[in-house]
Order: sequence, then C-alpha cells, then structure tokens
Amino acid sequence: MQERIDKIKLTFKNLLKEASDSAGLENLRVRFLGKKGDVTSLFLDMKTMKPSERKEIGALVNSLKNFVAKEIVKRGEDIKNLELLETINSLQPFDVSRPANFGKGSYHPITLVEREVEEIFRSMGFIVEEFPEVVDEYQCFESINIPPHHPARDMQDTYYLSDSRVLKTHTSAAQNEVMRKYGAPLKAVFPGRCFRNESTDSSHETTFFQMEGMMIGEGVSISNLIYFMKTMLSEIFKAAVKVRLRPGFFPFVEPGFELDIGCMICNGSGCSSCKNSGWIELCPCGMIHPNVLKMGGVDDEKYTGFAFGLGLTRLAMMKYSVADIRSFNSGNLKILSQFFTA
Ligand code: PHE
Repeated sequence: MQERIDKIKLTFKNLLKEASDSAGLENLRVRFLGKKGDVTSLFLDMKTMKPSERKEIGALVNSLKNFVAKEIVKRGEDIKNLELLETINSLQPFDVSRPANFGKGSYHPITLVEREVEEIFRSMGFIVEEFPEVVDEYQCFESINIPPHHPARDMQDTYYLSDSRVLKTHTSAAQNEVMRKYGAPLKAVFPGRCFRNESTDSSHETTFFQMEGMMIGEGVSISNLIYFMKTMLSEIFKAAVKVRLRPGFFPFVEPGFELDIGCMICNGSGCSSCKNSGWIELCPCGMIHPNVLKMGGVDDEKYTGFAFGLGLTRLAMMKYSVADIRSFNSGNLKILSQFFTA
C-alpha cells in the first residue's frame, strides 16, 4: 500500500508540472480526486483492510488527498494569473503618442439664449430667480386663478406625482412664490424647464423652456409691457423684429395677449415651424389678474403689474434658425456641435 501511495504521489507531481491550462488541471483533478480517481480508489481499497492497518494507512491516504487538493488549488491560481496576463498581452497596446480628442464642448443653445435674456433683463433692473421643476398643484394652478374644475387645465396636462405634486407646466407656477418672497414693487424674471402632455411635432415638445417675467408697481400699464418686450427682442436679435399683439386668454391675466414675432425661419412666407402662418407665438403676456395679486399677498388696489411667459426654446429656434424643436432634446451632435466653441 505504501508503495502505491508513493507511486500515485510521484505520478501526480509529474503530471502537475505539465498541466498548463485550466482544462488540463481539471482533467488532473478528475483523474486523482474524481469518483473513480486514483486517490479515491485508495479509500475504497482500505475497506478490506484490518482495522489496525486501516488507521495507519488511512492517515497516509488522507494526507495524500490533502496534498493533491492543495496543490491543485495552488496551481489553479497560477494558471489563472497566467491566463490573465496572456489576455492583457493580446490586447492592443495603449499608444501614448496618439493625438487626444481636443474638441471642446459648449453650452446648449437654450442655455446660451437663456443667459443672454437674463443679462438683458438684469440690465433693466430685474432680479433673476430659480425655482424647482416639481411644484404642487396649488402653485401651478390654484394660486394663479386656475381652480381644479377649470378647462384651462386640459391644455396643460402634465405628469402628476403623488401628494398632489406635478411637473410644472409653465413658469407661471412660481408667480405666487415670487410675490410672497419679494412683495411689491417687484421686477423679476425666472426661467425654467416645463413639461406638458403634447403630441410632438416640429414646433411642439413635451419638455421645453420658458422664462417668466413679472413687473409690479404703482401705475404699471400695458405700455410698460410693450416697451419691455420690444426692448428685449431688439436686443436679442440685434435688429428690428416684426411684432404683433393679439388678444389671448389666460386665467391669470386680464387683459391677456399673445405676442407673436414674424417667423425667422421662412421670413414670413410660411413653413412647418410657424404652421404656415408666417408668425410664431413667442410670448403670451398680460396684466396680472387682481385675484393673482391678492393670492400673492399684494395689495391689488394699490398695485398693478404685467406678466409674460417667454418661450425660450422657441426663441432659440428663431435666433439660431433651428427648424425642428425636437433637435434640442435629441442629443444629436450634428446639430448641437454647431454651437461648439473651437
Ligand atoms: N403661462 C402661460 C403658458 O405657458 C403663459 C403666460 C405667462 C401668459 C404669463 C400670460 C402671462 O401658457
């Protein structure tokens, strides 16, 4: 028996040296420790031995088994490391001399327009505020004169979250908070991302940007509103812009208007961006409804004011002649890279 044990050990040692990959090592394990393996058969043969012999030989066989098992694990680790090294060596070497990508990123066109408009309003004495995109229904609707049953809510369907919170449908959702925060008199603009349930086309998106503006003071009138709108637009376009004012309905203004500008994609001849009308609705606006002033804690006997909701995304379309609003959110670098600063 002793001889058999020594022979098995020797064979194992020799074969172990030759095992150079995981598959070979696995064969070796089966050959020695498998069900019909050399070491396993020693255990089976021990059954026929006398108990006195069995104890002594048993210890030897056990230590052989432990030796074989340990050596296989050890070799397995070496083989794994070798195989990893081989994989690494087979990879394309890293070429440190290759030129790097020096293309710089840029601000998104909407950010560019937003900052420009902010600057223009700042220079006219307006403060610039930021507000969250998730607001409660009260802020988005009730606080600006749109009660729960009002049909105006249909046009501004959005994502309703739990606890009666919504993704804001317009920047007007912050009007109440601005009035409460600053009181009257007040001159403020507050840009933001808005969300609506829309069927998208070249001029409609589910996600877009607006900039709300409010001016409240004693004797503020529609003339002030028109003056600020015209100044802002001529500053942005650095040219006279064709503007028209139409009556428009919004529950939070009275009177309310739609301010349109001549379409700059087609120069007024009609295209898909302006629905062939030659005009783009850019800035709904109006005189703030007394109920809205009251709910904002402003004395509606003493003060009047105007508010507007400038479509920043549409403005970016006009300024940069982007014919399809969907390009802005597409992540398509063919379009966005035109704004890269080299
Ligand atoms: N919040 C309105 C909208 O998004 C726009 C608006 C703002 C109209 C301010 C009047 C005054 O449709």
